[in-house]
Amino acid sequence: MKQPLVKVKNLSKSYKMEHGHVHALNQIDLEINQGEMVAIMGPSGSGKSTLLHLLGCLDRPSTGHYWLHDEDISHLDDRQLAFIRATKIGFVFQSFNLIQQLSVYDNVEVPFLYRPEHIDAKELILQSIKRVGLSHRLYHLPNQLSGGETQRVAIARALAINPLLILADEPTGNLDSETGKTILKMFQDLNKQGSTIIMVTHDENVGAHCRRIIRMRDGKMISDKENTLCLC
Ligand SMILES: Nc1ncnc2c1ncn2[C@@H]1O[C@H](COP(=O)(O)OP(=O)(O)OP(=O)(O)O)[C@@H](O)[C@H]1O
Ligand SMILES: [Mg+2]
Repeated sequence: MKQPLVKVKNLSKSYKMEHGHVHALNQIDLEINQGEMVAIMGPSGSGKSTLLHLLGCLDRPSTGHYWLHDEDISHLDDRQLAFIRATKIGFVFQSFNLIQQLSVYDNVEVPFLYRPEHIDAKELILQSIKRVGLSHRLYHLPNQLSGGETQRVAIARALAINPLLILADEPTGNLDSETGKTILKMFQDLNKQGSTIIMVTHDENVGAHCRRIIRMRDGKMISDKENTLCLC
């Protein structure tokens, strides 16, 4: 039987605060197959980023299980999680900004520095930068790029390791609508080439381009539907 790429069961995350607990994520069950492009939508504070952080192994759940590619990774230690991140997951997070002192090329190289084995990364880095159309900006620093170009570098960095899974948190936020369209098209093309993409967005227009839409509220999944009117 085909196993889902991502499977979570009873996934919850709460934070202990001075005056009680915050239940950021509440008993999520979810399966995502290889090749899907999924939008996660919902109001501010509904738990979207928390879910994405858990799926990205940036954080551990308070309770519940997470299988990535059939491996139960809920109880791995920090080193093991870092290895999963460096080898299997591409991140396009707004909070994961580019390193300002590094050039485009050097930023895209960063994920390779975390890999334990030696790989000849140069060709992969150049290819990835070419794919997002920035070969003419290899030696620019982030503050010498436009907003859309910066976002494209983040995508190039995510792609360079050829990840199993691409996670994006508001990848088109803060961009003008034309640049947003270009970035969205880039994700769609990647998906058509086989990448599995999970994207958090507030933008219904971005959601409209995803075949599946998960909606969240108060840390819970309130709907999970195929988008039959998908513009994909
Ligand atoms: N480290 C933390 N400590 C305490 N509470 C947290 C922490 N991180 C998130 N929360 C709370 O958990 C809830 C979910 O946060 P999350 O960042 O997942 O929301 P979101 O859906 O991504 O919202 P937005 O659309 O504004 O980005 C929020 O109420 C937030 O205040
Ligand atoms: Mg968020």
